[in-house]
Amino acid sequence: MATVLSGLQPTGPVTLGNYLGALRHWVDEQDQDQAYFLVVDLHALTVAFEPGRLRALVTESALCMMAAGLDPERCTLFLQSDVAEHTELAWLLECTASFGELSRMTQFKDKSAGQEFVSAGLFTYPVLMAADILLYDVDQVPVGEDQRQHVELTRNLAVRFNSRYGDVLTVPEATVPKVAARVKDLQEPTRKMSASAASMAGTILLLDPPEVIERKVKRAVTDTGTEVRFDPQAKPGVSNLLTILAAATGTEPEAVAKDYSRYGDLKKATAEALIAVLEPIQARYRELAADPAATDAILAKGADKARSVASVTLARARDAVGLLPRH
Ligand code: AMP
Ligand code: TRP
Repeated sequence: MATVLSGLQPTGPVTLGNYLGALRHWVDEQDQDQAYFLVVDLHALTVAFEPGRLRALVTESALCMMAAGLDPERCTLFLQSDVAEHTELAWLLECTASFGELSRMTQFKDKSAGQEFVSAGLFTYPVLMAADILLYDVDQVPVGEDQRQHVELTRNLAVRFNSRYGDVLTVPEATVPKVAARVKDLQEPTRKMSASAASMAGTILLLDPPEVIERKVKRAVTDTGTEVRFDPQAKPGVSNLLTILAAATGTEPEAVAKDYSRYGDLKKATAEALIAVLEPIQARYRELAADPAATDAILAKGADKARSVASVTLARARDAVGLLPRH
């Protein structure tokens, strides 16, 4: 039995990419020995944001995690900013990370490209993520493909910290799903599906109503030719739909491709499968959203549990680097 941990950033509404690439696997992992899932609200401050919207998105993210199937009786669900140990360990790790290795993070390059203002927080973002993980002696970090490099950095930081200061931190590993590790935008199937895209036409949201899902899938960009075949290089649009349909029905894209010979039928089946998966989640979301006090109580309990573990790891790390016990 392992300890697992993963996080969801409340920078926008939860997407189908989040669900297929990450959330649904978290639900499967929550019966591990220990399972921690956090809304990484501090990470959301690294790019332009609006305080009122952030407040709403933090709650929405936590509700989506529960609606998708995370059960606070079986896992620890909490907000990153409730546990101050995260930022403190992040500082110790910032002094362990090198400027050069952070400069090589592809997500930093993507997110900073062409921006007028690039925060220092965006640059050190992966170190805060490393702290999120390393505070909990985590073995496995279930994430989508885009986070693999950050988990690799986390491993390097843990190994370096341990070699400098003694055996303090557990070295984790990423677990990336075989299918749907990188769901693409329906309008631009070479780009990752994301809530920060300029238009939501190619992004399906976890809370999109059925008719919106149907419309977005119907208008998805397909490729030249008419053949339904799983070939992400030559047929990125069709392959993305096959990936989504396969993930939604628990199969493999190559196998699904054999069942369809026309783009129209593939789209119809994809929309239907998505609606079947998302409708119960949305119903559960509405139930949970109706009782904000219950969510607060869950997050308070989660924060208590997280703090009790994080404080022990942080004390160990402080001591190892030569900081005195707190006066
Ligand atoms: P984020 O919204 O960036 O906090 O992502 C939360 C989780 O969802 C991470 O594990 C990501 O790797 C995963 N994820 C985000 N977008 C996608 C996508 N388009 N396809 C697959 N996984 C994704
Ligand atoms: N950086 C991750 C993302 O954008 C979110 C995240 C923050 C995370 N801390 C984490 C994921 C710790 C896994 C473990 O998706």
